[in-house]
Amino acid sequence: MATQSTVILGTGSFAPERVLTNADLSKLIDTSDEWIRTRSGIRERHIAGDHESTSDMAVRAAKAALDDAGLTPADIDLLIVATITPDLVLPAAACLVQDKLGVSTHAACFDMNAACSGFIYGLDTACAMISSGRYRKALVIGAEKLSPIVDWKERTTCVLFGDGAGAVVVGASDEPNIGLIGTKLGAYGDSAELLWIPKGGSDSPATTESIAAGEHFMKMKGKEVFKLAVRAMDEAARDILEQHGLSADQIDLVIPHQANLRIIEAIAKYLELPMDRFFVNVDRYGNTSAASIPLALDEAKKSGRIKPGDISLLVAFGAGLTYGSALIRW
Ligand code: COA
Repeated sequence: MATQSTVILGTGSFAPERVLTNADLSKLIDTSDEWIRTRSGIRERHIAGDHESTSDMAVRAAKAALDDAGLTPADIDLLIVATITPDLVLPAAACLVQDKLGVSTHAACFDMNAACSGFIYGLDTACAMISSGRYRKALVIGAEKLSPIVDWKERTTCVLFGDGAGAVVVGASDEPNIGLIGTKLGAYGDSAELLWIPKGGSDSPATTESIAAGEHFMKMKGKEVFKLAVRAMDEAARDILEQHGLSADQIDLVIPHQANLRIIEAIAKYLELPMDRFFVNVDRYGNTSAASIPLALDEAKKSGRIKPGDISLLVAFGAGLTYGSALIRW
């Protein structure tokens, strides 16, 4: 029996008003615009205010995606928030978003923690649940307030990250071979400590000592993450292209996780594609983890970079280390 296609009906995004430029950062820590730009391609990032939570940003992006789709919160029966920075450990950010947005109490609501690959994991999950026929319309949101988990004294990591949110509405379509046509997900759990928060979980709850040592902040081995990121994203892209009998040249637009311009350039080189086939906004947002791909997708769509019939490739990696790729025919 042919399964139904699942399509993206609308996209939306939100970034907090406050912009922190490289010049601003160079007043806080020993760094420079030149160092940050040449190592990462980042010029500025958005930082959420004290009273602007992950769920607040998620709601703003979700409302924009619903408007774009011509739908209302009442149409949604599945709500997934991909995030590593939920407002609280308990309950899930998705439940807070449900309440703030006015989504039905009959909707399934849960968070997805696959770090920067979280949006692709969430999209795949939502599409599988919709093609099962048991759900009709899903909101898949990537939202992150990374600024509180970044150590602003640690110059190698703090310059890379920012806050924001992106969302899509997904539904079924009778048209065959359209929408999400394939995904490839995976993880290298043996590399968990390359990018992690060492303390504050159930295995080692935060103590006065761990907080004084800054072990509740994100820690990263930058060079190792860089190498594994390039390998994982290249493999995830190649695997999915091969599975679907496509060559890289048939991809109209690649929307990669926006972690670092040099990582994106390396993927372009490996796939032998020119950089104009890649959507890049890392210069304006930095790395917004699970928010990065839906935010880029929304900007790509609204700026006319995606047209009906186009094939887009989404590809990501993140803490875990997780990776994922997705092919979308519009
Ligand atoms: N400003 C100025 N100098 C800095 C700096 C900063 N913000 N951060 C680090 N440095 C210094 C280092 O101390 C080091 O000095 P030293 O040579 O005297 O020891 C020097 O710059 C070079 O550091 P290095 O670590 O070799 O730089 P790099 O070329 O590997 O770039 C990263 C560092 C973090 C930008 C890069 O490794 C990277 O992007 N990794 C991937 C990170 C990522 O994408 N994470 C998200 C995963 S989802």
